[in-house]
Amino acid sequence: MQVCHTIPALRAHLAGVRGAGPIAFVPTMGALHDGHGACVREARAVAGAHVVASIFVNPTQFGPGEDFTRYPRALNADSALLAGWGCDTLFAPSAEEMYPVPSRTWVEVTGASEPLCGRFRPGHFRGVATVVAKLFSIVQPDIAVFGQKDAQQALVIRALVQDLNLPVSLRIARTVREADGLAMSSRNAYLAPEERRRAPGLFRALENGGRLLAAGERDARTIEAAVGEAIRAAGFTRIDYAEARRAADLSALERCEGRVILAAAAWLSATRLIDNMVFDVGPQRVDADVTLFP
Ligand code: PAF
Repeated sequence: MQVCHTIPALRAHLAGVRGAGPIAFVPTMGALHDGHGACVREARAVAGAHVVASIFVNPTQFGPGEDFTRYPRALNADSALLAGWGCDTLFAPSAEEMYPVPSRTWVEVTGASEPLCGRFRPGHFRGVATVVAKLFSIVQPDIAVFGQKDAQQALVIRALVQDLNLPVSLRIARTVREADGLAMSSRNAYLAPEERRRAPGLFRALENGGRLLAAGERDARTIEAAVGEAIRAAGFTRIDYAEARRAADLSALERCEGRVILAAAAWLSATRLIDNMVFDVGPQRVDADVTLFP
């Protein structure tokens, strides 16, 4: 695996492979786990692809008081994992390389960035959309893979790609879970043993919402209340949101019909966890845990 730390080095390296096949890109912030592995596998599955991953803990998507400084950084271990997963090129720039001067240009996606995490992390999706636009401009991938675990992020990036006519096709990798259901996340490393024991309660609460859908409940507020109650009962100390929304664009709904996302964010002391499940709610049947977009 070739490792590049600067934009000119990456561009020179990719100039040698571009044209031989598609470039499939997996942007990450490192502290890799098998959820990232699933994204790399999805990229690897593209016929003839040259797989590029990036590791960059992007300061502009963290708010004041958030975990930017303590976000786990493990470049050596991450490089070994990426090489083992079949990644061809790793781009691992410094903050100075990505932001030699404070950014004067920002990418602001309206709509999908506003509810859910957008309400609780002001500026977060602006930072994500801006750095992803920069990474797309640097790597110029044909395909980019994002995890369904960060469903809102994936929808924001889809809007960015559509609105700016970026020539990149997006793929979604399914959420990878620990044996007890906890969605894999770099932030799980923050959990104390007792918190780790409670953490799967977030997924169990969403599953509980899915059971209500399967039993015929369609009222969004009733399902949200049940999911919120289950999160509280699991011992979470604070709930940012537990909501049902249209999976296409995160717009609000009263009745759960069509493709619906149940999404939640909740805290175990100082650690904020997010998770979601997407359902196809038909008149006769409910398909659970479907992909966010094809
Ligand atoms: O999902 C992440 O790891 C980050 O938000 C991303 C997409 C790499 C942008 O910094």
